[in-house]
Amino acid sequence: MSTDNKNALDNAQLHDEIENTPSNTSENRPFSSVLETNMSRRKVMAGSLTVATTAFLAPGAHAGWGWGRRKLVDFKPVAIDDVVDTTMPTISDDYEYDVLIPWGTPIEPGATKEYTGEPDARPTSAQAALQTGLGHDGMWFFPMDCRNAIYYGRHYRMRNDVGMLCVNHEYGTNIHALGKSGPENLEDVRLSQNIHGVSVVKLKRTFRRGWKVVSSAHSRRITVNTPVTFSGPAADSKLLQNPNGNIPLGTVNNCGSGATPWGTYLTCEENFNGYFGATSGFVATQEQDRYGFSENGFGYGWHLFDKRFDLSDEDYVNEQNRFGWIVEIDPFDGTQKPVKRTALGRFKHEAIAIAESRNGRIAAYMGDDQRFDYCYKYVSDKSWKRALRDKESPLDKGSLYVARFNDDGTGEWLELTIDNPQLAARFNSQAEVLIYARVAADILGATPMDRPEWTTIGKHGEVFWTCTNNSKRTDTNIANPEAPNNDGHIIRTKDSDDHLGTSFTWDIYLLASSTRGTEGVFTDPDAAWADPYGRLFIGTDGSQPDGLQDQLVVFDTTKDTPEPKRLLVGVNSDEITGFTVTPDQRTAFVNIQHPGNGSPDATNFPAPYDGRTIPRDCTLVIRRKDGGIIGS
Ligand code: FEO
Ligand code: CA
Ligand code: CA
Ligand code: CA
Repeated sequence: MSTDNKNALDNAQLHDEIENTPSNTSENRPFSSVLETNMSRRKVMAGSLTVATTAFLAPGAHAGWGWGRRKLVDFKPVAIDDVVDTTMPTISDDYEYDVLIPWGTPIEPGATKEYTGEPDARPTSAQAALQTGLGHDGMWFFPMDCRNAIYYGRHYRMRNDVGMLCVNHEYGTNIHALGKSGPENLEDVRLSQNIHGVSVVKLKRTFRRGWKVVSSAHSRRITVNTPVTFSGPAADSKLLQNPNGNIPLGTVNNCGSGATPWGTYLTCEENFNGYFGATSGFVATQEQDRYGFSENGFGYGWHLFDKRFDLSDEDYVNEQNRFGWIVEIDPFDGTQKPVKRTALGRFKHEAIAIAESRNGRIAAYMGDDQRFDYCYKYVSDKSWKRALRDKESPLDKGSLYVARFNDDGTGEWLELTIDNPQLAARFNSQAEVLIYARVAADILGATPMDRPEWTTIGKHGEVFWTCTNNSKRTDTNIANPEAPNNDGHIIRTKDSDDHLGTSFTWDIYLLASSTRGTEGVFTDPDAAWADPYGRLFIGTDGSQPDGLQDQLVVFDTTKDTPEPKRLLVGVNSDEITGFTVTPDQRTAFVNIQHPGNGSPDATNFPAPYDGRTIPRDCTLVIRRKDGGIIGS
């Protein structure tokens, strides 16, 4: 087993390395050089707009309970010296956690048996199709009956004790899922496929304040083999049809998430390229190169037994174009076909945050997580309520933009439209522009960033973008300490016209390197969620300094100086990601992803350390011991 364990670590590191190899060879001016100019101009942009509205939260969550005197972020942080056993998580003394839905949990009681981490008795692919998967990442809690409450503004009616939880299963390496480095047959491939995707489970709080999975007609697993549909401007494109005529199936590498104001879940397809490979001579086209397709992918080996993922199979020549989208899932209809929203463009979608503008039109902010890739925004043509009344999706008709950051603290949203002669010279239709959005963004001169991961909307409508790191940045200006950018940073943008504008202002909210040497040290910001009162929650993904593992830190963004407070530290070689709350903000859900990178030598979480049980990705339910607001 020790050989396998070593491979597990190597495999995870390889995954990280491959997924982040730059594929952007455009000569667009890197963000590093813009950052250098900006750092001398730190500008606080908060304050000019009204408090953001958040559909899933109950306004006045702070009322009652006597929290008025407590500061916005007031818990006792986990000190560096408090972290003594990294085989288990460490949480603030003011908080407690329970483990929920570890890998292998039946999606409803009795659906199948549970997988418990036994190394010699892994689930079959059929069992895995009815269990939660691996790689817990983005998620969202939808209170039962939330839709009417949101639509009619009766947020106080939303339930805090029962709802549907949608959870992404981004990935699990072959070593972690199969116990071997590659598949040997189609059953192995199906098991690997079925631990990927999305789980929709119904959760209910018990009288002891614990949470459990209960039965529901809405519960389901969505995998890379689940029927899906395409919608929006590229839906009927020939580039999404195969000579084989196979129907569109599935979603994969579901990373971050978002939710719509109308109560649906958005899952983001990130490193989809890694699941494709070629069984015979593969020479990448310019577009395939830009999206990172290669002969062996990330080593999953699906293409060896499932032709859909074989780039050299002429029957499935466009299967690759069916991935890289934002996918809309109805958490309250277990029979709904997930819908791929092509108007939002095809790239390595990390996550999505939706803001509602003054007239009900929506803007969606989205990062493309690769070194030197871009920040995007989508704006709907109509208000979301009007679109729904007209039997349209607000995510089907609108404009897609990519960001260019200027030296003076301003920026432009450049529209990806076939009406632009620069793009008409390269593409035949708007469908092509969207399918090859990265190439279109290169042509428009977007600013190459240091791996844009999650986005979230702050108290004043400002958008926070986590840029996790960029070790390949080669800016040699010694005045700029972030080349290479090993620790990452958080950017803040403010739209010029309440999310509908074509320009914005921006500043650097925080360079993570500036926290080194302090008690609040953290690096590699990744997952992000802001509440409407000014708290910003950041989950990290990368080697943390001072012997720490990946962390959940909280900021009070109403203060001029960012000060991270450490709420949670994870286990060896995990990642802290995904964040969602109940409407009263007194319960939060956060994910422990790839604990130990799958190696039982590193941790057996959620089992206590025994050096043998396979560690399982899981969700933590966290709450303040005194029942207060999360983050306070
Ligand atoms: Fe799936 Fe970029 O994190
Ligand atoms: Ca991430
Ligand atoms: Ca990451
Ligand atoms: Ca991850």
